[in-house]
Amino acid sequence: MAKKTVNVAQVGCGFMGRSHANAYLKVGKFYNLPVEPVMHTAVDLIEPAVKAYAANWGFANWSTDPMAIAASDEIDFIDICTPNNAHAPIAIAALEAGKHVGCEKPLAADLGEARAMRDAARKAARKGVKNYVWFSYRGCPATALASKMVAEGKLGRIFHVRAQYLQDWGGPKTPLLWRFKKELAGSGAHGDLNAHIIDLTRFITGQEITEVCGAIEETFIKQRVIPESEAGNIKGGKVSKKAKMGRSTVDDAVLFLGRLSGGGVASFEATRLATGSQNDNRIEINGEFGSLRWSFESGNLLYYYNANDDEERAGWQRIMCTKAGKHPYAGHWWPDAHTQGYEHGIINCTAMAFQDVGGKKMEVKIADFEDAYQTQRVLEAAVMSARERSWIKLKDVK
Ligand SMILES: NC(=O)c1ccc[n+]([C@@H]2O[C@H](COP(=O)([O-])OP(=O)(O)OC[C@H]3O[C@@H](n4cnc5c(N)ncnc54)[C@H](O)[C@@H]3O)[C@@H](O)[C@H]2O)c1
Repeated sequence: MAKKTVNVAQVGCGFMGRSHANAYLKVGKFYNLPVEPVMHTAVDLIEPAVKAYAANWGFANWSTDPMAIAASDEIDFIDICTPNNAHAPIAIAALEAGKHVGCEKPLAADLGEARAMRDAARKAARKGVKNYVWFSYRGCPATALASKMVAEGKLGRIFHVRAQYLQDWGGPKTPLLWRFKKELAGSGAHGDLNAHIIDLTRFITGQEITEVCGAIEETFIKQRVIPESEAGNIKGGKVSKKAKMGRSTVDDAVLFLGRLSGGGVASFEATRLATGSQNDNRIEINGEFGSLRWSFESGNLLYYYNANDDEERAGWQRIMCTKAGKHPYAGHWWPDAHTQGYEHGIINCTAMAFQDVGGKKMEVKIADFEDAYQTQRVLEAAVMSARERSWIKLKDVK
């Protein structure tokens, strides 16, 4: 019997747009999904570009009007891959029109928008409308295994989380792209990168961050050259010789400390100026019975230390998380140790969403608006802590 189809409109056709279009092309080939996502419409702002994009990636239609698409009867699922300021209006309109929504992270440019999105998602959920947030590192077999191991009690009581997301593309030569404009991005490295490691902390430990302190927010590069256009590349942008300079209105780096609901403590650091670290999203968790350590730059590997091992042979185990039938997601892909990369994380998350849309239990729980709202509260608390130079309790940030 033919599967029920789900017409997808993808809004925003840049870096993440391409990664999601790639996921729609492949997800049904690697996963036996209960429904079939259909690449119905690609949406972006400029006609020739979106038309060419739709043709290249195989969307049947294209549009330059996201709000009309959010309301269109032909669409079942809206996938939002725009800059952060456009997430809220499109997501809320789509949810109110009864469409399932997948949204890129951070959920929104600020906490007020995130709350409105969470509320709209809760209301729509009562009518069976689904919502997801593409915290794509939940889609890595190693982080999903870490989450499973913690849930099984392998680490026991958690004492420490040490999370860092280090990139280096934001040096002085990088132009004033949307990622450096508060009105479009909301924040800089904070919402971009700390959002990921806050979500990973919540995903792996199953705990909430209850208090934040010691935050530092820094903009090192205050003026950047204004590009003629953005190139669809994280660092790109066309710059003319006569280009003027403009002010960056976001942070380049944010660091903060936190307490966890289970009594442990955590540290977070996000920066775009860690020269030599290109996409080093890393986390270490120390518990009573052992530790886990992961970094995306060697993302198939999970390191595990079992503190109950005989001291003579105790040491870090290096787990290659690619065993079919043993490791999350792995059975859908290649033979053992034929490794997974960035695109697999996106495809795995897409598969989880469409398992859920089709009424099947997700193999791994990916993030939803409720999760992303909790993360946005922590982002807000860190900014408050930096600006007020004080402890902020999460119960006071709503
Ligand atoms: N999950 C991840 O690993 C990850 C990685 C990078 C970016 N992101 C997130 O993805 C989102 C997009 O980032 P990106 O790197 O793809 O940016 P990008 O600049 O490469 O692409 C954004 C696209 O959105 C289009 N756009 C802008 N406003 C629009 C609107 N109102 N309607 C329709 N299209 C619009 C732009 O023209 C552009 O083509 C952001 O929220 C970002 O934080 C997530």
